[in-house]
Amino acid sequence: KPQSIHLTVNGKSHELDLSPDTPLLYVLRNDLCLNGPKFGCGLGECGACAVLVNGKTVRSCSISVAAAEGRQIVTLEGLGTVEAPHPVQKAFVEQQAAQCGYCLNGMIMAVAGLINRNPDPTEANIREALKAHLCRCGTHMEILAAARRAVE
Ligand code: FES
Repeated sequence: KPQSIHLTVNGKSHELDLSPDTPLLYVLRNDLCLNGPKFGCGLGECGACAVLVNGKTVRSCSISVAAAEGRQIVTLEGLGTVEAPHPVQKAFVEQQAAQCGYCLNGMIMAVAGLINRNPDPTEANIREALKAHLCRCGTHMEILAAARRAVE
């Protein structure tokens, strides 16, 4: 049943009345109108919904709001701004890595999380960070190029 949940998203505090087992993704999109995290599979399989939780890449469809409470949640919207994009956002734009673009937000969050834990990742580290992120258009080579550009 609903209870008061306190979420910190992109540096802002939110007090929400929610069932504690609600997936974080639903609340980000439906209650906070943050559409950076995408709904792909809803099952933790595709990576489209990735966000950072205390700096780590997390699939927001697979974490409850109760588990996310009290942590720093960052969505694509909080990573950078249009004027000052995060280096990973900048690299993905410069590389024109998107085809349909649906998976890209999750890919960007995955690379941002990778850089947080390892500022100088190898090719193998990049591939490992992205391997469970699905792209149905098949733009993996451009995405890898963008990720390499981001860590240069
Ligand atoms: Fe969360 Fe696919 S929507 S992993």
